[in-house]
Amino acid sequence: MRQWTTEERYRVLHSPDEISDLYDKISKSVYRQTYHVQPVTGLSSDPNGFTCHKGTWHLFYQWCPWGAVHGLKYWYHVSSPDLINWKNEGVGLAPDTFYDNKGCHSGSAICAGDDLYFFYTGNHRDENWVRTPYTCAAKLGKDGKPEKLPEPLFGPRDDYSEHQRDPKVVYNEKNNKYYIFIGAQTLDKKGTVQIYQSENLLSGWSFAGQLNVVGFEDFGGMWECPYIVNISGSDVLIFSPQYTKLPGRSESTNHNVYLIGKMDYDTLTFTPESGYRHLDYGFDFYAAQGASNVGDPDKAILIGWIGLPDNHYPTEEEDWEGSMGLPRELRVKDGKLLQTPVSGIEALRAGQAPADGTLPAACEMIVEPAADADFDLNLYTKADGSGGLRLHYDAASKTCTVDKTGLNKRFNMAVGEVLDMPLENPLRNLRIFIDRSSTEYFVNDGEATFTSHTYPEAEEFHYTVTDGAAVKIYKLNPSVKDDFVV
Ligand code: FRU
Repeated sequence: MRQWTTEERYRVLHSPDEISDLYDKISKSVYRQTYHVQPVTGLSSDPNGFTCHKGTWHLFYQWCPWGAVHGLKYWYHVSSPDLINWKNEGVGLAPDTFYDNKGCHSGSAICAGDDLYFFYTGNHRDENWVRTPYTCAAKLGKDGKPEKLPEPLFGPRDDYSEHQRDPKVVYNEKNNKYYIFIGAQTLDKKGTVQIYQSENLLSGWSFAGQLNVVGFEDFGGMWECPYIVNISGSDVLIFSPQYTKLPGRSESTNHNVYLIGKMDYDTLTFTPESGYRHLDYGFDFYAAQGASNVGDPDKAILIGWIGLPDNHYPTEEEDWEGSMGLPRELRVKDGKLLQTPVSGIEALRAGQAPADGTLPAACEMIVEPAADADFDLNLYTKADGSGGLRLHYDAASKTCTVDKTGLNKRFNMAVGEVLDMPLENPLRNLRIFIDRSSTEYFVNDGEATFTSHTYPEAEEFHYTVTDGAAVKIYKLNPSVKDDFVV
């Protein structure tokens, strides 16, 4: 693993020429995705500023241009007419002011009137590397680039630790006010959310208080990337708690969970209807953010980072890593989220591939197991069926267990290579999206999902499945342009 100095990680990008060779090199990788958003060079992590504005979907990702390392972060911009076909737009926000001198960290977007506004964390560090997180704003300019406000909206509070970031802005129709949710850590190192309020988007912000999430007063050491949305009358609070292990999640200390309940803006209280649930049960899913301006009260669109903060991936050797997940539609049913792949994705199907035990590098696989029986589906096996990413369903406990120890390329072994995906209903169907370096399972029409990075080698493009299961495989056309735009 390459060791990076602080100077190397935090180098400022002055010209695209500085990374054009890197782009040429990584474009040749067999692991470059074909229908998932991925970093133009270097590393992509959290999705940011996800919104639909005047018919165009805008998405940004946390981007470190230099390699597979978390260093100086930019917002890199991609856009889409349909959430499926994406093109590179270049740098959205660059860390070029005093307030964000060491990174434009995560944040969100909101449309108001005809305008599109962005809220992000300016990660300032002084010469002693002491961090001051500022909440900053920008507005989409006529040239299609975000234009920053000269001054931050507010700075950090000194009655919390330095971890105060990732503004999620929302509008509350009931009192005509805007709110910003900030992921935070208390001085005694508990994860929480701070709430700011204002009647205007770009001025007048004041601290309203700390969000009281009933029953979650001591749940992890920092809540990154909070997101709140109302779907069909239920409030859904999504966040990424850190510095804690959770049952059934092996050694991982980074998670992405959701609560369904009621948000009361008068008392700043979120009352969950039930316990937390995992947004995704896979090895690599984090910092998910929903789009604003979806225009449908019964649905949200969510996108997550296929990756975890402290993990390392095999493409690190090639000087890049990370990918966005497939956008997913969220609905609420029976007090739970249903998550389905973005509608219209079927348009990428390039004909059915024979279900003959070989696996195309980019495909959709639909599997219907026989009812009420144990079941196995092993992807990326060798020709003799050995190895691979092995999914076993135990009908008695209604649990799928996914084991990645059989893959040739193993990684993040210490975090855990076997995870369970418990179901509430018997396994009926699996819809699996396979791209060159990721695998996403959507189970039982969206009851549960399992997302992971996977880096198959040439001999591993095979699968085995329990007899009697119906299997369909569709090759998928590429839909994400990988042009060098900086
Ligand atoms: C989550 C996170 C955010 C932060 C960003 C920096 O992965 O740590 O809290 O804003 O990444 O890249």
